[in-house]
Amino acid sequence: MSSTVKKVRVPDLARMKERSERIVMLTAYDATMARILDQAGIDLLLVGDSLGHVILGMDTTVSVTLNAVRHHTRAVAKAANRALVVADMPFMTYEVSPEQAMRNSARLFQDGAAAVKIEGGRTVAEVVRRLTAAGLPVMGHIGLTPQHVHQLGGMRRQARDREAAEQLMCDALALEEAGAFAIVLESIPDEVAEAVTSRLAIPTIGIGAGPHCDGQVLVSYDMLGLFESAPPFVKRYARLGELIRDAASQFAGDVRRGECPRPSERRRCTALVVS
Ligand code: KIV
Repeated sequence: MSSTVKKVRVPDLARMKERSERIVMLTAYDATMARILDQAGIDLLLVGDSLGHVILGMDTTVSVTLNAVRHHTRAVAKAANRALVVADMPFMTYEVSPEQAMRNSARLFQDGAAAVKIEGGRTVAEVVRRLTAAGLPVMGHIGLTPQHVHQLGGMRRQARDREAAEQLMCDALALEEAGAFAIVLESIPDEVAEAVTSRLAIPTIGIGAGPHCDGQVLVSYDMLGLFESAPPFVKRYARLGELIRDAASQFAGDVRRGECPRPSERRRCTALVVS
């Protein structure tokens, strides 16, 4: 892409909400995929702690380290020309104190992130306030917060009754008041997401939260069909898992039959050796 491309910046998201332009976010973990998603016009690339599952094969995001997110943030930031890069702050890298959050988030900004995302509502509002006051943009994340999987009793849909929906609304308002520039709403009923979206001035970005959010995010590997199974709300736009399996097994067949490299390539090599 040419250097004249206009980069997406944090204040653009508020303008997009004002103009009812939907915000598009996907996860990215490496430079090659980030470059392709950036060229496709994705507005935000999230270096999600879902990398624990997607890249490292872990069962939960609880074991993801700051160094792991830093490593992948550097790769994504190098390749993102237009998209705004958001880095996830991993489990227990921001909850201990605002000072801890400042120190750790600073690393992610030094690695090329333009914003960080943290999970939690009122309990992390003070952290959000301190980071934004220091000029570090923060995206919130409420509803199903995978870092709290043990407390939640599994990856369950949240805000399913009136009281829980009211608590979620309080969390959203507290994050907005503390200075968050956007909030991810994960796995909550459509009507709760709609109520939060219309109450907040800042954009909401939904995942499993229905069509009324200001934007949508998916784990790229889910929507590209790289896993055998994906959450029920995920639409698969490709079947890359099957394509890769097919390509790899064709390669294996060619090698085993002695057809790789092709005879024409072998002749070229022989000619070089003889001349
Ligand atoms: O880590 C992640 O990929 C996320 C998205 C699912 C929002 O937090």
